[in-house]
Amino acid sequence: MFHPDNVLTNRDLEKMVDTSDEWIQSRTGIKERRKVKPGQAASDLAVEAIVPLLKKTQTDPQDIELIIVGTVTPDMLFPSTACLIQSRIGAKNAWGFDLSAACSGFLYSLTVADQFVRNGKHKKVLVVGVDVMSSILDYTDRNTCVLFGDGCGALLLEPEPEATELGILDSIHHIDGIGADLLYMPGGGSRNPATHETVNKKMHVVHQEGKQVFKYAVSEMARVSEEILERNSLSPKDIDLFVAHQANLRIIESCQKRLGLSDEKIVVTIDKYANTTSGTIPTCLTRAVEDGRLTKGNLVLIASFGAGFTWGATLVRWAY
Ligand code: ACO
Repeated sequence: MFHPDNVLTNRDLEKMVDTSDEWIQSRTGIKERRKVKPGQAASDLAVEAIVPLLKKTQTDPQDIELIIVGTVTPDMLFPSTACLIQSRIGAKNAWGFDLSAACSGFLYSLTVADQFVRNGKHKKVLVVGVDVMSSILDYTDRNTCVLFGDGCGALLLEPEPEATELGILDSIHHIDGIGADLLYMPGGGSRNPATHETVNKKMHVVHQEGKQVFKYAVSEMARVSEEILERNSLSPKDIDLFVAHQANLRIIESCQKRLGLSDEKIVVTIDKYANTTSGTIPTCLTRAVEDGRLTKGNLVLIASFGAGFTWGATLVRWAY
Protein backbone atom coordinates (compact mmCIF):
# COMPACT_ATOMS: atom_id res chain seq x y z
CA MET A 1 0.00 0.00 0.00
CA PHE A 2 1.03 3.60 -0.35
CA HIS A 3 -0.35 6.77 1.21
CA PRO A 4 1.02 10.26 0.66
CA ASP A 5 3.12 11.75 3.52
CA ASN A 6 0.95 14.81 4.04
CA VAL A 7 -1.38 14.23 7.03
CA LEU A 8 -4.63 16.19 7.28
CA THR A 9 -6.00 15.90 10.83
CA ASN A 10 -9.49 16.62 12.11
CA ARG A 11 -8.01 19.67 13.83
CA ASP A 12 -6.75 20.91 10.44
CA LEU A 13 -10.31 20.53 9.07
CA GLU A 14 -11.72 22.46 12.05
CA LYS A 15 -9.87 25.46 10.61
CA MET A 16 -11.43 24.96 7.16
CA VAL A 17 -15.11 24.13 7.85
CA ASP A 18 -17.59 24.26 10.73
CA THR A 19 -16.77 20.87 12.24
CA SER A 20 -15.04 19.36 15.25
CA ASP A 21 -12.65 16.53 15.98
CA GLU A 22 -15.30 15.18 18.37
CA TRP A 23 -18.03 15.13 15.66
CA ILE A 24 -15.81 13.47 13.05
CA GLN A 25 -14.47 10.81 15.41
CA SER A 26 -17.81 9.96 16.99
CA ARG A 27 -19.80 9.92 13.71
CA THR A 28 -17.18 8.24 11.48
CA GLY A 29 -14.19 6.89 13.46
CA ILE A 30 -11.79 9.04 11.41
CA LYS A 31 -8.87 10.77 13.15
CA GLU A 32 -6.79 11.78 10.17
CA ARG A 33 -6.36 11.20 6.45
CA ARG A 34 -3.63 11.67 3.84
CA LYS A 35 -3.63 14.22 1.04
CA VAL A 36 -1.46 14.29 -2.06
CA LYS A 37 0.91 17.15 -2.74
CA PRO A 38 -0.02 19.36 -5.71
CA GLY A 39 0.59 17.53 -8.97
CA GLN A 40 0.60 14.05 -7.40
CA ALA A 41 -1.95 11.83 -9.20
CA ALA A 42 -3.42 8.34 -8.99
CA SER A 43 -0.74 6.69 -11.13
CA ASP A 44 2.00 8.20 -8.92
CA LEU A 45 0.47 6.58 -5.83
CA ALA A 46 -0.01 3.31 -7.67
CA VAL A 47 3.62 3.13 -8.81
CA GLU A 48 4.74 3.74 -5.19
CA ALA A 49 2.68 0.73 -4.11
CA ILE A 50 3.51 -1.55 -7.05
CA VAL A 51 7.31 -1.18 -7.17
CA PRO A 52 7.85 -2.60 -3.63
CA LEU A 53 5.24 -5.31 -4.34
CA LEU A 54 7.16 -6.47 -7.42
CA LYS A 55 10.40 -6.41 -5.43
CA LYS A 56 8.91 -8.35 -2.54
CA THR A 57 7.46 -11.02 -4.83
CA GLN A 58 10.57 -11.01 -7.05
CA THR A 59 8.39 -10.35 -10.07
CA ASP A 60 9.87 -9.16 -13.35
CA PRO A 61 7.55 -6.39 -14.61
CA GLN A 62 7.75 -7.95 -18.08
CA ASP A 63 5.99 -11.04 -16.71
CA ILE A 64 2.89 -9.02 -15.77
CA GLU A 65 0.17 -9.82 -18.30
CA LEU A 66 -2.76 -7.73 -17.11
CA ILE A 67 -3.20 -4.58 -15.00
CA ILE A 68 -6.66 -3.71 -13.65
CA VAL A 69 -7.03 -0.40 -11.83
CA GLY A 70 -10.09 0.27 -9.69
CA THR A 71 -10.46 4.05 -9.50
CA VAL A 72 -12.91 6.93 -9.84
CA THR A 73 -10.12 9.50 -9.77
CA PRO A 74 -7.90 8.51 -12.70
CA ASP A 75 -5.07 10.86 -13.69
CA MET A 76 -7.36 11.90 -16.56
CA LEU A 77 -10.37 10.46 -18.40
CA PHE A 78 -8.09 8.95 -21.00
CA PRO A 79 -5.64 7.40 -21.44
CA SER A 80 -6.45 4.98 -18.65
CA THR A 81 -4.42 4.94 -15.45
CA ALA A 82 -3.55 1.33 -16.33
CA CYS A 83 -1.69 2.56 -19.45
CA LEU A 84 0.23 5.15 -17.42
CA ILE A 85 1.18 2.59 -14.79
CA GLN A 86 2.15 0.02 -17.43
CA SER A 87 4.66 2.34 -19.01
CA ARG A 88 6.06 3.63 -15.68
CA ILE A 89 6.77 0.15 -14.28
CA GLY A 90 8.01 -1.30 -17.59
CA ALA A 91 5.30 -3.97 -17.87
CA LYS A 92 5.94 -4.23 -21.60
CA ASN A 93 3.85 -7.36 -22.11
CA ALA A 94 0.76 -6.30 -20.19
CA TRP A 95 -2.62 -5.05 -21.30
CA GLY A 96 -5.06 -3.44 -18.90
CA PHE A 97 -7.84 -1.02 -18.12
CA ASP A 98 -9.46 1.08 -15.43
CA LEU A 99 -12.60 -0.14 -13.70
CA SER A 100 -15.16 2.29 -12.29
CA ALA A 101 -17.15 1.00 -9.32
CA ALA A 102 -16.38 3.68 -6.70
CA CYS A 103 -15.74 2.08 -3.30
CA SER A 104 -16.27 -1.39 -4.77
CA GLY A 105 -13.59 -0.74 -7.42
CA PHE A 106 -10.95 -2.96 -5.87
CA LEU A 107 -13.28 -5.86 -5.13
CA TYR A 108 -14.79 -5.78 -8.63
CA SER A 109 -11.26 -5.62 -10.11
CA LEU A 110 -10.21 -8.61 -8.04
CA THR A 111 -13.14 -10.64 -9.36
CA VAL A 112 -12.38 -9.71 -12.98
CA ALA A 113 -8.70 -10.57 -12.48
CA ASP A 114 -9.72 -13.89 -10.93
CA GLN A 115 -11.55 -14.89 -14.14
CA PHE A 116 -8.38 -14.50 -16.24
CA VAL A 117 -6.25 -16.45 -13.79
CA ARG A 118 -8.88 -19.13 -13.22
CA ASN A 119 -9.38 -19.81 -16.94
CA GLY A 120 -5.63 -20.06 -17.50
CA LYS A 121 -5.36 -17.01 -19.75
CA HIS A 122 -2.96 -15.09 -17.48
CA LYS A 123 -0.45 -16.06 -14.83
CA LYS A 124 0.40 -12.68 -13.30
CA VAL A 125 -2.24 -10.00 -12.87
CA LEU A 126 -1.79 -6.73 -11.00
CA VAL A 127 -4.93 -5.57 -9.21
CA VAL A 128 -4.75 -1.97 -8.06
CA GLY A 129 -7.15 0.10 -5.96
CA VAL A 130 -6.27 3.78 -5.98
CA ASP A 131 -8.09 7.03 -5.38
CA VAL A 132 -7.09 10.65 -4.97
CA MET A 133 -10.36 11.74 -3.42
CA SER A 134 -8.91 15.16 -2.49
CA SER A 135 -9.03 15.97 -6.22
CA ILE A 136 -12.86 15.77 -6.22
CA LEU A 137 -13.71 17.19 -2.79
CA ASP A 138 -15.13 20.57 -1.91
CA TYR A 139 -13.14 21.68 1.12
CA THR A 140 -15.94 24.11 2.06
CA ASP A 141 -18.52 21.28 2.36
CA ARG A 142 -18.31 19.71 5.81
CA ASN A 143 -20.70 16.93 4.79
CA THR A 144 -18.13 15.35 2.47
CA CYS A 145 -14.62 16.79 2.90
CA VAL A 146 -14.04 15.19 6.30
CA LEU A 147 -14.85 11.69 5.08
CA PHE A 148 -12.25 10.92 2.43
CA GLY A 149 -8.50 10.55 1.98
CA ASP A 150 -5.97 9.64 -0.71
CA GLY A 151 -4.39 6.20 -0.91
CA CYS A 152 -3.57 3.08 -2.84
CA GLY A 153 -3.04 -0.63 -2.49
CA ALA A 154 -2.04 -3.31 -4.97
CA LEU A 155 -2.12 -7.06 -5.10
CA LEU A 156 -0.49 -9.62 -7.39
CA LEU A 157 -2.79 -12.46 -8.43
CA GLU A 158 -1.22 -15.73 -9.59
CA PRO A 159 -2.57 -19.27 -10.11
CA GLU A 160 -2.40 -21.73 -7.24
CA PRO A 161 -2.63 -25.47 -7.86
CA GLU A 162 -6.28 -26.35 -7.23
CA ALA A 163 -5.29 -29.02 -4.73
CA THR A 164 -4.03 -26.39 -2.27
CA GLU A 165 -7.57 -24.99 -1.90
CA LEU A 166 -6.00 -21.56 -1.52
CA GLY A 167 -7.08 -18.36 -3.24
CA ILE A 168 -10.39 -16.79 -4.20
CA LEU A 169 -13.20 -19.18 -3.31
CA ASP A 170 -16.26 -17.21 -4.35
CA SER A 171 -17.54 -13.72 -5.03
CA ILE A 172 -20.94 -12.06 -5.30
CA HIS A 173 -21.52 -8.59 -6.74
CA HIS A 174 -24.52 -6.34 -7.19
CA ILE A 175 -25.36 -2.95 -8.66
CA ASP A 176 -28.46 -0.79 -8.22
CA GLY A 177 -28.81 2.56 -9.98
CA ILE A 178 -31.23 3.65 -7.26
CA GLY A 179 -28.13 5.12 -5.65
CA ALA A 180 -27.27 7.35 -8.62
CA ASP A 181 -28.85 10.44 -7.05
CA LEU A 182 -27.51 9.77 -3.58
CA LEU A 183 -23.75 9.68 -4.16
CA TYR A 184 -22.31 11.14 -7.35
CA MET A 185 -20.15 13.69 -9.11
CA PRO A 186 -22.36 15.35 -11.74
CA GLY A 187 -19.81 17.26 -13.79
CA GLY A 188 -17.04 16.35 -16.20
CA GLY A 189 -18.80 13.53 -18.05
CA SER A 190 -20.89 13.66 -21.24
CA ARG A 191 -24.04 14.79 -19.36
CA ASN A 192 -22.43 17.92 -17.93
CA PRO A 193 -19.16 18.63 -19.73
CA ALA A 194 -16.86 21.08 -17.98
CA THR A 195 -17.82 24.73 -18.42
CA HIS A 196 -17.34 27.81 -16.27
CA GLU A 197 -20.93 27.27 -15.15
CA THR A 198 -20.37 23.65 -14.01
CA VAL A 199 -17.33 24.79 -12.05
CA ASN A 200 -19.27 27.67 -10.44
CA LYS A 201 -22.08 25.25 -9.54
CA LYS A 202 -19.58 22.90 -7.88
CA MET A 203 -20.47 20.02 -10.17
CA HIS A 204 -16.95 18.56 -10.21
CA VAL A 205 -16.96 17.43 -6.60
CA VAL A 206 -18.54 14.62 -4.55
CA HIS A 207 -22.20 15.05 -3.57
CA GLN A 208 -23.68 12.68 -1.03
CA GLU A 209 -26.93 12.15 0.87
CA GLY A 210 -25.03 10.61 3.76
CA LYS A 211 -27.91 9.33 5.86
CA GLN A 212 -29.57 7.51 2.97
CA VAL A 213 -26.31 5.97 1.76
CA PHE A 214 -25.59 4.89 5.32
CA LYS A 215 -28.84 2.90 5.52
CA TYR A 216 -28.17 1.02 2.28
CA ALA A 217 -24.51 0.39 3.18
CA VAL A 218 -25.35 -1.10 6.56
CA SER A 219 -28.04 -3.45 5.29
CA GLU A 220 -26.55 -4.52 1.94
CA MET A 221 -22.97 -5.11 3.11
CA ALA A 222 -24.22 -7.35 5.93
CA ARG A 223 -26.74 -9.08 3.65
CA VAL A 224 -24.20 -9.92 0.92
CA SER A 225 -21.75 -11.17 3.56
CA GLU A 226 -24.39 -13.54 4.91
CA GLU A 227 -25.31 -14.56 1.35
CA ILE A 228 -21.77 -15.61 0.44
CA LEU A 229 -21.28 -17.50 3.70
CA GLU A 230 -24.55 -19.39 3.24
CA ARG A 231 -23.74 -20.22 -0.38
CA ASN A 232 -20.47 -21.79 0.77
CA SER A 233 -22.00 -23.61 3.75
CA LEU A 234 -19.96 -21.50 6.15
CA SER A 235 -20.89 -19.62 9.28
CA PRO A 236 -19.35 -16.40 10.60
CA LYS A 237 -17.36 -18.41 13.16
CA ASP A 238 -15.41 -20.00 10.27
CA ILE A 239 -14.07 -16.58 9.25
CA ASP A 240 -10.58 -15.63 10.46
CA LEU A 241 -10.76 -12.02 9.28
CA PHE A 242 -13.48 -9.64 8.08
CA VAL A 243 -12.24 -6.87 5.80
CA ALA A 244 -14.96 -4.33 5.09
CA HIS A 245 -14.76 -1.19 3.00
CA GLN A 246 -13.82 1.69 5.31
CA ALA A 247 -16.49 4.37 4.82
CA ASN A 248 -17.65 4.72 8.41
CA LEU A 249 -16.68 2.85 11.58
CA ARG A 250 -20.36 2.66 12.54
CA ILE A 251 -21.13 0.79 9.29
CA ILE A 252 -18.30 -1.68 9.94
CA GLU A 253 -19.40 -2.22 13.57
CA SER A 254 -22.99 -2.73 12.52
CA CYS A 255 -21.93 -5.50 10.07
CA GLN A 256 -19.67 -6.97 12.76
CA LYS A 257 -22.60 -7.10 15.19
CA ARG A 258 -24.98 -8.65 12.67
CA LEU A 259 -22.43 -11.34 11.78
CA GLY A 260 -21.56 -11.84 15.46
CA LEU A 261 -17.81 -11.38 14.92
CA SER A 262 -15.37 -10.61 17.74
CA ASP A 263 -13.17 -7.49 17.63
CA GLU A 264 -10.00 -9.41 16.75
CA LYS A 265 -11.58 -10.53 13.46
CA ILE A 266 -12.15 -6.95 12.26
CA VAL A 267 -9.63 -4.79 10.40
CA VAL A 268 -9.90 -1.02 10.91
CA THR A 269 -7.77 1.52 9.07
CA ILE A 270 -10.35 4.30 8.74
CA ASP A 271 -8.95 6.07 11.82
CA LYS A 272 -5.66 6.72 10.02
CA TYR A 273 -6.56 6.97 6.34
CA ALA A 274 -10.33 7.76 6.20
CA ASN A 275 -12.25 6.52 3.16
CA THR A 276 -9.79 6.14 0.27
CA THR A 277 -12.53 4.62 -1.95
CA SER A 278 -10.82 1.86 -4.01
CA GLY A 279 -7.79 2.04 -1.73
CA THR A 280 -9.40 0.85 1.51
CA ILE A 281 -9.58 -2.91 0.98
CA PRO A 282 -6.00 -3.47 -0.24
CA THR A 283 -4.87 -1.14 2.56
CA CYS A 284 -6.66 -3.31 5.14
CA LEU A 285 -5.22 -6.50 3.64
CA THR A 286 -1.70 -5.06 3.68
CA ARG A 287 -2.10 -3.85 7.27
CA ALA A 288 -3.38 -7.25 8.38
CA VAL A 289 -0.47 -9.06 6.71
CA GLU A 290 2.04 -6.62 8.24
CA ASP A 291 0.50 -7.07 11.70
CA GLY A 292 0.66 -10.85 11.38
CA ARG A 293 -3.14 -11.09 11.57
CA LEU A 294 -3.44 -12.50 8.05
CA THR A 295 -1.35 -15.52 7.18
CA LYS A 296 -1.42 -18.38 4.71
CA GLY A 297 -4.54 -20.53 5.01
CA ASN A 298 -6.67 -17.90 6.79
CA LEU A 299 -10.24 -17.50 5.60
CA VAL A 300 -10.99 -13.87 4.79
CA LEU A 301 -14.38 -12.35 4.08
CA ILE A 302 -14.13 -9.09 2.16
CA ALA A 303 -17.15 -6.81 1.67
CA SER A 304 -17.66 -3.49 -0.05
CA PHE A 305 -20.34 -0.87 -0.66
CA GLY A 306 -20.06 2.25 -2.78
CA ALA A 307 -21.55 4.77 -5.16
CA GLY A 308 -23.82 3.43 -7.87
CA PHE A 309 -24.83 1.65 -5.78
CA THR A 310 -22.18 -1.05 -6.12
CA TRP A 311 -21.57 -3.72 -3.54
CA GLY A 312 -20.32 -7.24 -3.05
CA ALA A 313 -18.45 -9.82 -1.05
CA THR A 314 -15.52 -12.13 -1.75
CA LEU A 315 -14.26 -15.15 0.16
CA VAL A 316 -10.53 -15.81 0.07
CA ARG A 317 -8.38 -18.56 1.53
CA TRP A 318 -5.24 -16.44 1.86
CA ALA A 319 -2.36 -17.89 -0.15
CA TYR A 320 0.61 -15.74 0.80
N1 ACO B 1 -19.11 18.33 11.23
C1 ACO B 1 -20.15 18.69 11.99
N2 ACO B 1 -21.42 18.49 11.66
C2 ACO B 1 -21.66 17.88 10.50
C3 ACO B 1 -20.63 17.45 9.66
C4 ACO B 1 -19.32 17.70 10.05
N3 ACO B 1 -18.25 17.33 9.31
N4 ACO B 1 -21.18 16.86 8.58
C5 ACO B 1 -22.51 16.89 8.73
N5 ACO B 1 -22.80 17.52 9.89
C6 ACO B 1 -24.11 17.81 10.46
C7 ACO B 1 -25.20 17.84 9.42
O1 ACO B 1 -25.23 19.10 8.79
C8 ACO B 1 -26.43 17.56 10.23
O2 ACO B 1 -26.83 18.76 10.86
P1 ACO B 1 -28.39 19.12 10.95
O3 ACO B 1 -29.01 17.99 11.75
O4 ACO B 1 -28.37 20.43 11.65
O5 ACO B 1 -28.88 19.15 9.55
C9 ACO B 1 -25.91 16.64 11.33
O6 ACO B 1 -24.47 16.78 11.35
C10 ACO B 1 -26.23 15.18 11.09
O7 ACO B 1 -25.93 14.89 9.75
P2 ACO B 1 -26.19 13.46 9.18
O8 ACO B 1 -25.88 13.43 7.73
O9 ACO B 1 -27.52 13.00 9.61
O10 ACO B 1 -25.08 12.63 10.00
P3 ACO B 1 -24.85 11.10 10.04
O11 ACO B 1 -24.87 10.65 11.42
O12 ACO B 1 -25.72 10.36 9.05
O13 ACO B 1 -23.34 10.98 9.52
C11 ACO B 1 -22.12 10.45 7.50
C12 ACO B 1 -22.99 11.47 8.24
C13 ACO B 1 -20.84 10.30 8.29
C14 ACO B 1 -21.84 10.98 6.12
C15 ACO B 1 -22.86 9.09 7.43
O14 ACO B 1 -24.17 9.31 7.02
C16 ACO B 1 -22.19 8.10 6.49
O15 ACO B 1 -21.15 7.58 6.79
N6 ACO B 1 -22.85 7.77 5.36
C17 ACO B 1 -22.42 6.65 4.48
C18 ACO B 1 -21.15 6.93 3.72
C19 ACO B 1 -20.87 5.80 2.77
O16 ACO B 1 -20.92 4.62 3.13
N7 ACO B 1 -20.60 6.09 1.51
C20 ACO B 1 -20.42 5.02 0.52
C21 ACO B 1 -19.00 4.82 0.17
S1 ACO B 1 -18.22 6.29 -0.48
C22 ACO B 1 -18.03 6.03 -2.24
O17 ACO B 1 -18.51 5.11 -2.81
C23 ACO B 1 -17.27 7.08 -2.99
